[in-house]
Amino acid sequence: MRFIGNKELITVEIKDLLKKKGLLNKGLKLFDAFCGTGAVADSLKDSFYLIVNDLVKWSVIYAQGRITIDDCKFEKLAFDPFQFLNSNNKVEKGFFYKNYSPADSERMYFSPENAGRIDYFRQAIEDWKISNFINEYEYSFLLASLIESISFVSNTAGVYGAFLKHWDSRAKKTIIFQRVQSKESKYLGLEFFNNKIEDIIDKVDCDILYLDPPYTQNQYGTQYHLLETLVLNDNPSVSPITGSRATAPMRSDWSNDCKTHILFDQLISKTKAKYIVFSYSADGFMSKSFIEASLKRYGKSESYVCKKIAYSKYKNFKSKGKKEHFEYLFFIEKKDIKEVKYESPLNYIGSKSKLLSEIEKNFPKDIKIFIDAFGGGFNVGINSNSDTIIYNDLNHFVKDLVESFRTNDTYQYLLYIRRIIKKFNLVAEGSEGYINARNYYNSLPFKKRDPRLLYTIILYGFNQQIRFNGSHDFNNPVGMRWFNDKVLEKMISFSRVIKEKNIHFESMDYNDLLSKINTNTFIYMDPPYRLTTGSYNDGKRGFKGWGVEAEKKMFEFANSLNDKSIQFIISYIIEHKEKTNEEVKKWIEANSYQLINVNKIHGSQRKEVLITN
Ligand SMILES: C[S@@+](CC[C@H](N)C(=O)[O-])C[C@H]1O[C@@H](n2cnc3c(N)ncnc32)[C@H](O)[C@@H]1O
Repeated sequence: MRFIGNKELITVEIKDLLKKKGLLNKGLKLFDAFCGTGAVADSLKDSFYLIVNDLVKWSVIYAQGRITIDDCKFEKLAFDPFQFLNSNNKVEKGFFYKNYSPADSERMYFSPENAGRIDYFRQAIEDWKISNFINEYEYSFLLASLIESISFVSNTAGVYGAFLKHWDSRAKKTIIFQRVQSKESKYLGLEFFNNKIEDIIDKVDCDILYLDPPYTQNQYGTQYHLLETLVLNDNPSVSPITGSRATAPMRSDWSNDCKTHILFDQLISKTKAKYIVFSYSADGFMSKSFIEASLKRYGKSESYVCKKIAYSKYKNFKSKGKKEHFEYLFFIEKKDIKEVKYESPLNYIGSKSKLLSEIEKNFPKDIKIFIDAFGGGFNVGINSNSDTIIYNDLNHFVKDLVESFRTNDTYQYLLYIRRIIKKFNLVAEGSEGYINARNYYNSLPFKKRDPRLLYTIILYGFNQQIRFNGSHDFNNPVGMRWFNDKVLEKMISFSRVIKEKNIHFESMDYNDLLSKINTNTFIYMDPPYRLTTGSYNDGKRGFKGWGVEAEKKMFEFANSLNDKSIQFIISYIIEHKEKTNEEVKKWIEANSYQLINVNKIHGSQRKEVLITN
């Protein structure tokens, strides 16, 4: 049948990719999570155990009917249902006749004769099922065949969202009850679900997840309402013009731009599958850059594949002359969950995101409470697996920013960012809009300064720095960056995980954290470094600066932790541009603390160390 986004034509490419990855015929379970017509699952049924799912019932039935064709011998029925149904001219004046033909309504989906035949076929199938003459798979096979059969006589332009105003020649033909198309081979095993994938993703045991979500605003539930009614056979009340059943239960969040991004992150992170295969149109909501960033966050970079398939290869007379259409086929093998790292959506000066794995190696195992005492962008603390994580930063603007990703619904947050970008016309290097937004933010009383507004402005500022003047007004000049899809991916994954973990937020001088510390606590400190400058370091900017005195105080604080047998790690810089911080060296020696060199990031002249007790 004709179906939007049908992957019939690229099943060969999908199989080829799985073959290249050495995954065929290994007894693996493949989960076709948005099965649609089941074209992909059906084509792979002799190579994998299958699990199929779709939000709409008719898709699941249709896919199931195709896949299990080999099991449908109709032994109990004891005659060929196709021959039988085509051997008479019976009609029923049922739901389709009354609602989808001009016999009793204004609607012209089918001729009255064909609509009456459809009602007759549907009733016969239901009667056989109720009388136990057919089993579940035979029932699905017959319903799938009915869906197939009506597609040859429907007076529509391919989808069933609306009917044509004049009779198409196809619709004048007499309906024949015919078999659904299916691959002629036996399936290895089949499970099916009829759910929103996002509601079941973490529960479904599978090895390979195949994703083919909607990629436009088109709602499948609206476009194919009539097939849902055909399968459910529930005589629903229908809308006046198109005769559609209520579409709300079939509404997909994948047809919403912002929600798709959020759901994609959720699916890739939560699936139990080890391998992910993902089909997506080059014209879809999510960009290649977003998809790649997301797949590589959870997957092994070296396993990543992105194949661009030109549909012109498969062009038929109907698509000739139309705009070239490209389809992507992605693949990734997932990392071990412990290897997955999150990055702050704030581009924080002195961010530890690149050094994280080096630093984490030195953290003690089984920590109950992890304190990120100079939390900043929170690149380190967010990755802790402790029962409790405490984020602290003296700069309450930064703390509010980080916390805003936890307290705000991510979808609402994205809508807010988009509204602000539009309102102030924020673009890279666009100083007029930027200054207007910044002035607006600074004009608000402190209590009304929304961190989401600040975040949006920061994204368009110079190097995306977070800089305030002495009266706590944001004062970074305009920059060359923007809210690009890599930042979007960081923001979405970070916003999810920050909501999932048990995190407490504080904005106090780190010395005051002592009250929160007990024997099960580990404290990580990433203070400003006296030898380098960060904008939190160049003058006090309304917050405390970081000079010799401040450093001394930190030594005392660390010593007091040590006295209480509390483990700490301090990230620091001891040598920078031919200068050495002798005070730190002496302090380390005097207390017999350990100095650990952290491998340099390529291209950086900073030599970072860890100091621990
Ligand atoms: C692009 S089509 C899949 C096409 C399919 N691979 C084929 O070859 O026929 C997308 C499918 O996703 C389903 N869908 C939309 N939202 C969903 C959700 N949240 N969970 C599961 N399925 C969903 C739609 O009903 C539709 O059948």
